[in-house]
Amino acid sequence: MSIQYIAEKGIFHLQTPNTSYIIALKHGLPMHVYYGKKIDSIEGVWQAVYNVSGVYSYDPEVDDMWFSSDGALLEYSVAGSTDKRICAFCAEFEDGSIYTRPVYKSHRIYNGKPKLSGLPATYVESDDEATTLEITLCDDRRELVLILRYTVFEVLDVITRGTDIVNLSENDINIKSAMSMSMDISGRDYDFVHLYGAWGKERNIQKNLLINGNVSIESTYGASGHYHSPFVALANKNVTESQGEVMGFCLVYSGNFYAGAEVNYFDMTRVSMGINPRGFSWRLGVGEAFVTPEVVMTYSREGLGSMSRTYHKLFRTRLMRGKYRTEHRPVLINNWEATYMDFNEQKIVDIATAAKELGVELMVLDDGWFGKRDNDRSSLGDWYVNKDKLPNGIKGLAQKVNDVDMKFGLWFEPEMISPDSELYRAHPDWCIQVEGMPKSLGRHQLILDLSRKDVCDYVKEFLTDTLSSANIAYIKWDMNRNFGEIANAEQPHRYMLGLYDICEYITEKIPDVLFEGCASGGGRFDAGMLYYFPQYWCSDDTDACERLRIQYGTSMIMPTVAVGSHVSAVPNHQCGRITPLDTRAYVAMCGTFGYELDISQMSDGEKVQTKKHIALFKDIQEIIHAGDLYRLRSPFDGEDSAVIYVAENRQRAVAVYVKMLAHANTIPTRLKFAGLDETANYVDKITGERYSGGVLVNIGITLRINNDFESKIFVFERID
Ligand code: DGJ
Repeated sequence: MSIQYIAEKGIFHLQTPNTSYIIALKHGLPMHVYYGKKIDSIEGVWQAVYNVSGVYSYDPEVDDMWFSSDGALLEYSVAGSTDKRICAFCAEFEDGSIYTRPVYKSHRIYNGKPKLSGLPATYVESDDEATTLEITLCDDRRELVLILRYTVFEVLDVITRGTDIVNLSENDINIKSAMSMSMDISGRDYDFVHLYGAWGKERNIQKNLLINGNVSIESTYGASGHYHSPFVALANKNVTESQGEVMGFCLVYSGNFYAGAEVNYFDMTRVSMGINPRGFSWRLGVGEAFVTPEVVMTYSREGLGSMSRTYHKLFRTRLMRGKYRTEHRPVLINNWEATYMDFNEQKIVDIATAAKELGVELMVLDDGWFGKRDNDRSSLGDWYVNKDKLPNGIKGLAQKVNDVDMKFGLWFEPEMISPDSELYRAHPDWCIQVEGMPKSLGRHQLILDLSRKDVCDYVKEFLTDTLSSANIAYIKWDMNRNFGEIANAEQPHRYMLGLYDICEYITEKIPDVLFEGCASGGGRFDAGMLYYFPQYWCSDDTDACERLRIQYGTSMIMPTVAVGSHVSAVPNHQCGRITPLDTRAYVAMCGTFGYELDISQMSDGEKVQTKKHIALFKDIQEIIHAGDLYRLRSPFDGEDSAVIYVAENRQRAVAVYVKMLAHANTIPTRLKFAGLDETANYVDKITGERYSGGVLVNIGITLRINNDFESKIFVFERID
């Protein structure tokens, strides 16, 4: 049993293979005691439960003038009394006050992990994979119940958290904040590690000092967004890829979120994560429950690399679902950068035919195939084919692509509506708007109001109709603008529930279709979307050099198999850089791998090279997509970048090294590898050179690479 309750002390001990998490009950409140390296016996832990008296006021409901919830290390924080820090929960009651003090009532420990109603979450396939603890807190006067839920995975160092809020009173409650978790840690000796970015430069890694006060990231854009990812880690100041303490917190949610670390005047650090309280409220009716999204926590003493590998494995195996969780991802070609919206049937068939000859497996038709869509000013919502471009319809085109033995995939932007569309003219009330007020446009478009059931039903219907009208094996689901004006503070979360409902419906209905998410590149690439779409277009920046940083940052949490990555033309369309074809291919191989250029226009030499790249990728795809990732050189730290993927049995590994800018008068670099069996011998299948695992890991290979954007790939195979 991985969760123990020591009744006489009121202590819960949660254990994963290598970590312990300890909660103690004091004055009816669950207190946070410990999250760290696994402890077998917790004899004597009770003395570690401490609190200090608050400066101004102590808890009004306990006979202990030294106890103030402002100075306590709590498991879940509730606003309204003496705790003046940022609190996870806040609600306004019938009397206008926010005072409440839910206290321990009962708990339940059981095998397995419950599904979250209407929300994405990690899952188990059998009850023996996890154990769940539910601590029920009640305020009998308010008739309010909070259920704190913890699930401990048996074979991974993962604990998930979430909170249910239940209104048992006779009156509605106005929830103002319903975060999934908070956790108070003794001390403040951490860096706040997070991912920030913007369009075309997603997920840069940043480490901030904690301050006395609050350090936080958030989204108020309606989607998790380009600017921050719903993930933070608290890490030792000197944490490296392989050493140092790190606690990761990742929210399985795709809408407005908040993640913060607040240090108080006693150097206690409160980590909070969940739906962003800014711009949020929720009227919880009589007898209703509000379910918060899940937070996935992991702890390691072996640095950021170990944290990432835990997330990768969990997300690959127990967050992604469906056929493509295990089936190989097709090498695809997408026509966006090849033609933009200027194409016809013959052009697409030509690209497909040329691509097939080189080994590509799937042809994806991007934006511009419907309505009067020749530019981005019209037609979103008019999901009927443009017969001028495609006289034989999607069915006819799909057939022609199938005839050259390629699968066919199609782009959609189902959440959007153009003001210049038949749909808008028929249903002007279907977009998100404040009645009688002006509406902001983003990329000339408005957002369908998915908080409405009739609008969701319409989206389900047109998706089902189009998908059943032709042989479509893949969908690129795009989303290209953020929220502007919202009608009310419930709408952003209701929108997410509507979107998740559509995604659940459609992925269940057509389980064989591969879905790739997209939001102007990686603007909603989060664990919530991964539950429905097992791959995600990582960024609209397709330059190999820029992608090194984008993909490196993304790999903090996202498994390689989810990272949409393509070889594109040079000069690159986003930044004009010219990089070698080898480098573009090796960088794209560190993701799903595909192409985004007019392959029919390649020179014969480029075609020969490309054929080799695709054959190589098919040989090593399993290692890259299912292996363990070790980051070897950070593109954020210098002028080169390197990673290695090691198969679970350590028989095979693939490493990619890329030099960014070269400098004169430098010495060769020694690239040390990681994750390999140091007692084994390996051969590099590319060069035929033999190395011991010990040499590769401890001494490394000397590289004499001194040209801008030059790269090298290594394919190690164990020989004894
Ligand atoms: C934004 C996406 O990120 C691109 O890949 C492309 O699909 C365009 N939208 C199409 O409008």
